[in-house]
Parts: sequence; structure tokens; C-alpha cells
Amino acid sequence: MNDELLLDVAREADQARLADVLSHAFGFPREDAGAWFGRAGPENVRALRRGEAVIGGLLEVPMGQWFGGRSVPTLGLAGVGITPAERGRGVGSWLMRETLRQARARGFALSTLYPATLTLYRRAGYERAGAFAVVSFDPRTIEVAREPSISVDEVVGVPEPLRALYDRVASQAPGHLDRGAYVWGRVVAPRGLTTRTFTLAPPRGALEGYVVVAQTSSGSSTTITVADLVVTTARAARASLRLLAEYRSLATQVKYNGALSDLVTTLLPERHFAIDVSSHFMVRVVDVARALEARGFPTAAAGAITLEVADDVLPDNAGRWSVVVEGGRARVGRARGALHRTGSAARARARRRARGGRRDDGRARGVVRGTLSHLPGLLLRTVG
Ligand SMILES: CC(C)(COP(=O)(O)OP(=O)(O)OC[C@H]1O[C@@H](n2cnc3c(N)ncnc32)[C@H](O)[C@@H]1OP(=O)(O)O)[C@@H](O)C(=O)NCCC(=O)NCCS
Repeated sequence: MNDELLLDVAREADQARLADVLSHAFGFPREDAGAWFGRAGPENVRALRRGEAVIGGLLEVPMGQWFGGRSVPTLGLAGVGITPAERGRGVGSWLMRETLRQARARGFALSTLYPATLTLYRRAGYERAGAFAVVSFDPRTIEVAREPSISVDEVVGVPEPLRALYDRVASQAPGHLDRGAYVWGRVVAPRGLTTRTFTLAPPRGALEGYVVVAQTSSGSSTTITVADLVVTTARAARASLRLLAEYRSLATQVKYNGALSDLVTTLLPERHFAIDVSSHFMVRVVDVARALEARGFPTAAAGAITLEVADDVLPDNAGRWSVVVEGGRARVGRARGALHRTGSAARARARRRARGGRRDDGRARGVVRGTLSHLPGLLLRTVG
């Protein structure tokens, strides 16, 4: 029944129907869909059709993901939605598989998304690969001294030198996004918010950080939402906290996306803050060879491993791959021969005895099993 499905760039005529489907799927006003499609770029809006009827779709977000200091071509996905009458019969799964097939054909090595449900995406080969921490605190509860060596200046939007600073920091943080136009758009203008950008730099000195903030009020409580926060020095981190604390006459909450122990969070002076790490993202290796060759490795790392990959959704990934890491890069080719020497039956029995009769999980022979999304970390641990 799903043989009649077709996934393609939404034609102009499809966009109104897709706006209906996605606004209902995500509960936003239908008239807001046009602006969302515009920000994504019409070429990235995909409609799923059964005949002439648009029954679902998604938005593609081309970008990169930093691993080992290099940007790996990554297709982000947003707004995956199926019209209610078609749900629960494999259409969403078909949409994911077809999207991945097309992404691979177009040269993407990875795909990433924020899941509403894990099962749907896990079936397509995604796995949880990380989470960002939402740090929140009441600015009235923290005391941060003014940082006299840093001046805070307001700029419009997020100009190029700030984006370059983000790239510098993000490229050293595995899994961070190499942001494309869509993600930068969401930083400058998060949904429903108006932002202001402040640079952090010594007077007439080089940029050491920046903060993008939005203020929202409901009733008597005001929240400061930090849309982006990049700091490269402890004094810029202190200045950013002080800047956020300056909102304390009205604000009862400050929220920013950080990590358990990033430069700013580490400087919070008291324990009156919360860190929520429930915003998981999932990653799917779309092209095994390309993903490994595109990423960087520590230059001191050298080694070789053979991978045996099973992949029902993208069969071109399946089979054995030989991976040789040297000089910060990996060379990947098809491997021939057995994955490992199985040894004699007597040696196998001896190994089993040594494990107290437990089944062979492969570790004794240097074999490690995992899902495709474990690959980048696995390789880094194996050779780095
Ligand atoms: C999520 C959604 C796209 C799934 O589409 P679908 O055509 O029903 O998906 P499938 O029939 O291929 O279901 C695949 C599996 O995903 C899981 N799944 C599907 N819909 C789900 C839901 N709403 N909640 C939790 N799990 C769900 C189920 O495990 C399902 O397997 P099962 O039917 O064997 O139990 C659809 O329900 C939808 O549009 N929901 C609203 C928008 C949304 O949440 N999008 C995801 C944003 S990340």
C-alpha cells in the first residue's frame, strides 16, 4: 500500500496542503507555515504524496556536525509529520527511510534530529547520540561581580566575526553543529522572540564572547532566554553572567543551553540553579565511508580496524570496511576476508571456560558490537 508513496520537494501547489498537515501535527497557526517554509528555503521543504494528496512531509536542514575538528556533511530534519488518518500504518517509517536514501544519494554522511518519539527514528537507524543541557537560574539568587576588563557592546543580529567565533569554539566540541542558514536564523530570531546581541571584548581588544538574549514576560514573571552564548575566556564568561544578572530587577529566570560543566556554568557561584539534560538529539550514519573520511582524528592517533556493518535501510553501508587512521584522517575501503580469526574449536572452548561458560560477546577477540551511531565515538576510543 505504501508502494504508491512519493517524496519530493514540495511543489508550490503542495505547500498549502503541507501547511495544513504540519500546522495540525505541531499545533501552530496554519498561516505561520509560509514563514517557516521560507526560512527553511523552498528547496528544503519535502512533501510526501499519495497520488496527488499530500499526506505528510518534513523540512530538511543541510548543515555539518563537528567531529575531530572537521565538519561532516549532515542533514538535519525538522517538522516530520503525517496526517492523522494515515498514521500508524508505516507511512512515517517509509518517509524516514526514503529521506535517508535521498540524503545519501545527495552526499550527506550523517543525519541528525530532535526526536518526539525514539521508536520511529530508531527503526530508521538513528540512535541517541547526545543531549544539550538547559541551565536555568534565578538571577536574584546569584552575586557576580562586574568584570572591568571586558566591555559589553550591543550589535545588530549576529555579524560574521561572532559566527567565526562560534565556529572556532564549536569545531573543538564533538557533535556540535556547523550551523547552516536555517540554524543561524533560529539563533537570531527564535520562534516568537525578539533578540538582542551583546559582544564581550576588552576595550579595543579581540572578541572573547557574545550573548544573544530575549526577554519574555507573562504576568509578574519575566524570563531571559539566551538564544546563543559563546565565551572563550573566564573573564568573558564572568562578564556574560553579570550581563544576565543585570536583568534581575524584573527577571525571575534565566535559561541558556550549556553543558554540565561549561565555562559559564562552572562559574555559577551558588547551587541555586538547575541543569536539565533531557533534550536528546539522535544521529544516523548515512554514509559510513564518507562519515569516517570526513571527520578528523587526533593527529597522534594511528591504527586500523575492520568494521562489519549491518544496515537494512541503506544497504550500501552494509558489509566490511577497513578503516586506517593516520595523521588526523581516516582512509576507508572495502575489507576482504574474515573479520577476525576465529581460532580453533579448542581455543574457543578454553575462552568460554575462562568466561565461566558465558556466551561469546566478541570482546575476547577484539570484536565490539554497537549501532551505527556509536561509530564515531568507538573509533575515537579505539585509536585515540
Ligand atoms: C510521529 C509520526 C510522524 C509517526 O508517523 P506514522 O506514520 O504513524 O509512523 P509509523 O506508522 O511508521 O510508526 C512507526 C513507529 O513509530 C512509533 N510511533 C508512531 N507514532 C507515534 C507517536 N505519536 N508516539 C509515539 N510513538 C509513535 C511507534 O512505535 C510506531 O511503531 P508501531 O506502529 O509498530 O507501534 C506521526 O504520528 C505524527 O505526525 N505525529 C505528530 C507530529 C510529531 O510528533 N512528529 C515527530 C516530530 S520529531
